[in-house]
Amino acid sequence: MPVNKDTEKKAWWKEAVIYQIYPRSFADSNGDGIGDLNGIRRHLDYLEKLGVDVLWISPVYKSPNDDNGYDISDYQDIMTEFGTMEDFDCLLSEAHEHHLKIVMDLVVNHTSDEHAWFVESRKSKDNPHRDFYIWKDPKKAEDGSDALLPPNNWGSCFSGSAWQFDKATGMYYLHCFSKKQPDLNWDNPKVRDSVFGMMDWWCKKGIDGFRMDVISMISKDPSFPDGKVMDGLYGDITPYVCNGPHVHEYLKEMNTRVLSRYDIMTVGETAGVTVDEAKKYASSDGSELNMVFQFEHVGAVPGKVGKWTDEKPSLPVLRKILNKWQTELEGKAWNSLYFGNHDQPRSVSRFGNDSPAFRVISAKMLATCLHMMKGTPYIFEGDELGMTNIHFDSLEDFRDIESINAYHEYTDKGLATPEEMMRYLNELSRDNARTPMQWTDGKNAGFSDGTPWSRVNPNYKEINAEVELADPDSVFFYYQKLIRLRHTTPVIVYGIFRPLLEDSNEIYAYERTLDGDTLTCLCNFTDKEVACDLCSKDLGNELISNYKEHVPGALQAYETRVFLKKN
Ligand code: GLC
Ligand code: CA
Repeated sequence: MPVNKDTEKKAWWKEAVIYQIYPRSFADSNGDGIGDLNGIRRHLDYLEKLGVDVLWISPVYKSPNDDNGYDISDYQDIMTEFGTMEDFDCLLSEAHEHHLKIVMDLVVNHTSDEHAWFVESRKSKDNPHRDFYIWKDPKKAEDGSDALLPPNNWGSCFSGSAWQFDKATGMYYLHCFSKKQPDLNWDNPKVRDSVFGMMDWWCKKGIDGFRMDVISMISKDPSFPDGKVMDGLYGDITPYVCNGPHVHEYLKEMNTRVLSRYDIMTVGETAGVTVDEAKKYASSDGSELNMVFQFEHVGAVPGKVGKWTDEKPSLPVLRKILNKWQTELEGKAWNSLYFGNHDQPRSVSRFGNDSPAFRVISAKMLATCLHMMKGTPYIFEGDELGMTNIHFDSLEDFRDIESINAYHEYTDKGLATPEEMMRYLNELSRDNARTPMQWTDGKNAGFSDGTPWSRVNPNYKEINAEVELADPDSVFFYYQKLIRLRHTTPVIVYGIFRPLLEDSNEIYAYERTLDGDTLTCLCNFTDKEVACDLCSKDLGNELISNYKEHVPGALQAYETRVFLKKN
C-alpha cells in the first residue's frame, strides 16, 4: 500500500495498538490480593480478542514497592509478589503465541535505595559505586549556625525536598521522586554501561521494546541552581532536570549500543517535553526513540496547589494542545496517543462523562477521537470497558504515595483545606486508575479471591468484562472495531492530519489524508445535541459511530462519526 512517501516510513509500531497493564491491579492468580504475572497469563485470550498488538507492562522487577515497582532493587529479577522469572518467561512465550508483543517498563532515572548499587554507594565516599548517584555536600546556613541545609531548594515530585541527608557520609543525595528512589548519575560512564548491559540482557530474552520512565530527566543541570519557588514551599526542578544538557547524547549512545541492534519499539515518558524537544527524542531519523509521551493535554488545567485541581479542561484548550502536537510533529517525529494511564485518572471521568446516561457513549467517543489521530494509540487496562474513577471518602483508602504526600504537605502548610484536598484527590489521584480490573460481577469483580490491595470500584456489578463480552454494543466491542479499522485502513495510520472546525466550543473535528483518501472524524464533546453543517456534506462512507441513528445536520450528545472518502 503506498504511503505519504516523503513523510512517513512504514513501521510495525506505527500500525500497532498498545495496551497498558498495571500488573498489581490486573488479575491475582494466588489469592494474596495482588495482581501477578500468572494473572496476566490467564487473560491473554481476552487481550487477543480485543485485538491489541502490544502489551506494555508496568514494572515487574524486584522492588520494595515504595512507588509500586517504580523503585527497582534488582533489574534482572522479578518482584516476589508478581511471581518468578520462570513465570515471566512463560508469559513472554505465551504472549507471543497469542500474537502479542511485550514492552517492558524501563525505570533508569533512579533505582530503589535498596538496589545493591545504592547500598554500596552510601557506604563511603570512596566506594566504587559512590558516583553511581548524585551526592552533594550540605549548604552552609547563612546565619552562621552549623545546620546542614540541603544543597539547593529543589522540591521532589512526591512532595518535600528533593534531597535526603545521609548520616553515614554527611552528604545529601538527590531524589526527584521519593527518598527511596535515588537518582542515578548518568554522567558516569559506568552507570551507562551497567544500564545498557541490563537492557541488552532483556532484549536477548526476546522482549519487544521499552517504555522509558521519566527518561527526559536523566541529565541534570550541572550547576544545580535554586528553582523558582512554588506554593511558597520548594523550588521547581523542571528547568534543571528535564531535557538536560546531555539527554540526547545519552539516548543516542543507548540507541547505538542497544536499541538499533534489535527490532524493538521504544517510547519515552518525557516529563517537561516541548514540541521542539520531542522532534529530537522521537526524530524520524531513528537516532533516539520511536515516540514520546507528552504531558500538555493532561496538564491543561493549572493546579490550585501543585498539580491538584478539580476543574476539567475545556474543549478549546484541549483541542489547541492536541492539534499542536498533531501538526507540528508531522513528518518529523511520531506521536503517542493517550488519554489515561496508571498516573492519570480514568479518561472517561476526566474528558468524557461518567454519569450512567453518558458513560458508554462518551467512552466510545473519546476512544474514537484518540484512535483516529495520527500516532500510536495506548489503551490503559479497563478503558476498553469504560471503567470510571472511584470515590474515596477517607484518606485511608488511598494507596498512592504521591496522593498521600500531597494531602499532608498542602493541608499541613494550610495551602488547602482537608475537604479541598479530598476533592482534588478524588478527581486526579493515580489511585483512580489503579483500582482492580473489573472482570465479572462476582466476588472482588473477579480480580482476586483474597482481599484486594486497593478497593474495587463498587460499580463492578454493571461495569465488567463478562457483561461487555456478552453485549455486541459494549465499549469492549467498539474498541475491537477501532483496532480492526486501524489494521485495515492505511489512512488511519499514515494519513496527514488537518484540523477542522477550530472555532467550535463543542465539536472536535479533523481529517486525515493519504493518497487522495480522506478520513473525517467528528466528535461532540458535550451532553447536548449540537448543529454540525459539516455532517451534511458528502464525507464518504461511515466507518464507525457510537450512535445507530443520526440527526441530519447535527451531532447528538457525545456522538462521534468517522467517514472515509476514497480516492
Ligand atoms: C513515572 C511513572 C510513575 C512513577 C514515576 C517515578 O512518572 O509513570 O508511576 O511514579 O515515574 O518512577
Ligand atoms: Ca497474587
